[in-house]
Amino acid sequence: MIRFRNIVKSYGSARAVDGADLEIAPGELCVLIGPSGCGKSTLLRTANRMVEPDSGEVFVDGRPVREHPPEELRRGIGYVIQSVGLFPHMTVGDNVAVVPRLLGIDKGEIAGRVDRMLELVGLSPEWSSRWPRELSGGEAQRVGVARALAADPPILLMDEPFGSVDPLTRVRLQREFLAIQRRLHKTVLFVTHDVEEAIRLADRIAVMRSGRILRHATPEEFVATDAEDFVGEFLGLEYGVEILSRRRVREVLRPAAEIGSDPGAPSIRAEASLKEALGLMAARRVECLSVTDGEGRRAGSLRMEDVLGTWKACP
Ligand SMILES: Nc1ncnc2c1ncn2[C@@H]1O[C@H](COP(=O)(O)OP(=O)(O)O)[C@@H](O)[C@H]1O
Ligand SMILES: [Mg+2]
Repeated sequence: MIRFRNIVKSYGSARAVDGADLEIAPGELCVLIGPSGCGKSTLLRTANRMVEPDSGEVFVDGRPVREHPPEELRRGIGYVIQSVGLFPHMTVGDNVAVVPRLLGIDKGEIAGRVDRMLELVGLSPEWSSRWPRELSGGEAQRVGVARALAADPPILLMDEPFGSVDPLTRVRLQREFLAIQRRLHKTVLFVTHDVEEAIRLADRIAVMRSGRILRHATPEEFVATDAEDFVGEFLGLEYGVEILSRRRVREVLRPAAEIGSDPGAPSIRAEASLKEALGLMAARRVECLSVTDGEGRRAGSLRMEDVLGTWKACP
């Protein structure tokens, strides 16, 4: 769906992007991660021609983007940035409606769409008449996402979209965005420098350094990375624990019937993550948890070895 081939971009004598190759499959959420200044934003912006590469080619749907007029590309590709960039003199509703209006969609359809988009990001239709200055950081980011989705583009470019909000709001926005992505299956290039965010969201992670993509793989495939090389060092030793946040307790629990009761074991919800389960085991100094379902009934047990055993499925 999006393919970057040998992209080079220099500013003066400095190479911001230095021969980057990356291919993002349709419906894939690719997280591009790397240290500050490594060229992530520059590379992302070659996809909608906000940056023209010195050499190399970006393809969207197999066609070079330089064959598309920049305005057309920017209407057809959603773009979300950290500072949101809402127009201060327009209401929330008008901000969300900007691209549909440019596309000439009729008024009645736009009004309905604005309400649907706000609902999608967790805001009721009343938000439509508010002004950007009345929004918290998290609310403004939600509106930014709604605006990017309003023209129903197949591709979303997101440049540290949740970078400026507090950690709790950030986790909530990540969850909401994942839920949206599971419904809409956009092809997403999502830039961050936050390893936790990458692990939570990514179908595949691309690690960038000094203008090049070093590795592009599923989060699970990075587990075997040597901690001594750049990629391993950048991802950090917590990576092995962090990645357990991608799996739910219900995926590995042993059914109650199989193992009988385990009196005194602390309990955890089947929907909790394996990272939370490991945290609880460490805090209570136990190797076994009692698992409960949504109604609080006992669903089974979880053992430390089952948590560690999930790695066997990894390469
Ligand atoms: N418009 C510009 N003019 C000059 N230098 C730039 C410009 N945009 C980016 N750079 C430089 O290119 C390098 C990569 O920048 P950027 O792509 O923004 O990195 P990242 O998003 O990974 O932090 C940095 O050294 C930055 O200073
Ligand atoms: Mg950047």
